[in-house]
Amino acid sequence: MKIKFASANPSTGSLAVPVFEKSTLSDAAKAVDKAAGGAITRAIKASRFSGKAGETLEIYAPAGVDANRIIALGVGAKGKLDGNGFEKAGASLVKSLLTGGETDLAVVLTTVADAEMAARFGLGCRLAAYRFDAYRTKLDDSKKPSLKNVTLVVDDEKAGKAAWKSWGAVADGVDLARDLVNEPPNVLTPPAYAKKVQGLADLGLEIEVLGEKEMKKLGMNALLGVGQGSVLESQLVIMKWNGGKKGDKPLAFVGKGVCFDSGGISLKPGQGMDEMKGDMGGSAAVVGLMRALAGRKAKVNAIGVIGLVENMPDGNAQRPGDIVTSMSGQTIEILNTDAEGRLVLADALWHTQKEFDPEFIIDLATLTGAILIALGHEHAGIFSNDDKIAEGLTKAGLASDEKVWRLPVGPEYDRQIDSPVADMKNIGEGRLAGSITAAQFLQRYVNGKPWCHIDIAGTGMWAGSKDPRLPTFGTGYGVRLLDRFVRDNYEK
Ligand code: BES
Ligand code: MN
Ligand code: ZN
Repeated sequence: MKIKFASANPSTGSLAVPVFEKSTLSDAAKAVDKAAGGAITRAIKASRFSGKAGETLEIYAPAGVDANRIIALGVGAKGKLDGNGFEKAGASLVKSLLTGGETDLAVVLTTVADAEMAARFGLGCRLAAYRFDAYRTKLDDSKKPSLKNVTLVVDDEKAGKAAWKSWGAVADGVDLARDLVNEPPNVLTPPAYAKKVQGLADLGLEIEVLGEKEMKKLGMNALLGVGQGSVLESQLVIMKWNGGKKGDKPLAFVGKGVCFDSGGISLKPGQGMDEMKGDMGGSAAVVGLMRALAGRKAKVNAIGVIGLVENMPDGNAQRPGDIVTSMSGQTIEILNTDAEGRLVLADALWHTQKEFDPEFIIDLATLTGAILIALGHEHAGIFSNDDKIAEGLTKAGLASDEKVWRLPVGPEYDRQIDSPVADMKNIGEGRLAGSITAAQFLQRYVNGKPWCHIDIAGTGMWAGSKDPRLPTFGTGYGVRLLDRFVRDNYEK
């Protein structure tokens, strides 16, 4: 589905016009209502439509206007809708029309939304149009999306198109992150994933892939130990976007990319294990973000690093009791092979801080089931050694509706991962504060650099959201959050 901008109504397909709270018609709605002999006013009277944001009311084959149907679109109290409100309104509209047989939709946003808000509306449309149908060969035509073009009619077409250059790139990044999470683990293997990321070079990203041989040379035994039981080769992929000034320190984003997490020898229970195909959600957010930054030619230098492995039980798999030496030189006693994400990140984080001397490191990972117990699906957990980054992310979370909630780190928790036989163990004492002890582990690999860990185990995969922007399962969480964080703090 494509988003277009125009300054006049293209007069094909369906036509949506905004209606404010208490069924107050916008100027566009008034004009269409008049042309259609009062059809909108009568339809509203005949229904419970009241103009609440996201509400829709369809009038088919109206007399007096060209449109196949008129849609009254609720936009709430006049002048009150913010960026997220516009996104949700666009998403609701597209959701209601996506498979309804119509191919073309025009939405008259003149006088209601400026260029930026119209572009956010367009982003909402795109987010709601997302589907993962690649493997449904018998999907009935009547269930396939019909909607192909959404034209947003705005006061300033040029400004609208410019704003869309930026927000359309974000939509592309989210789409990509969702696809990566939704792809099955027999298709999106670590090598296949690395190949796919290499394709992003077309957008101007520099991509480098390290295989097991190269990682062995660098001493990345923590990451390699996780992939040891898999027949698939582990990979470390580095993406570079150089859109900023030469010499400006890069912003670094690191992602957990466990393409399938069976738990390894500490095997997970069978129930719901299939969901662990999404255990690369952190890496997907990093890839989606890099795509967004490159797509909108962000004026920053950024690095994305993802560690891609498969965690499997096998005769050659890592055992509970093994001790591995990470790239940092610190040794780790493996007590549970299912606490594997932190092992992957340990080497990815150390390499990132050492190789690129970044401004900060933000890592994303579907790291702990405990974060679901603490925060559910509504907030990601953040853990940081830097108040400014934590506050910036909290603000960006509200602005993007990808919300975060800060949890503590500190020496009392850190002590829990000390080991009597190695420098640390890969789990805490018992089950308490499991998300925090996981974060403490990561903190030991950032070498004091400004850092924030985002645990997206709850937000990265979600089948039951009521938000019209979110599809089932892979949400693409993190792309909008981090894009916003970069926009607001590093591009001004
Ligand atoms: N990938 C899981 C965490 C997870 C759980 C993500 C549920 C999404 C939904 C992670 O690798 C894991 O297994 N963590 C363990 C850690 C424990 C062994 C200390 C967990 O959370 O149980
Ligand atoms: Mn695990
Ligand atoms: Zn995992």
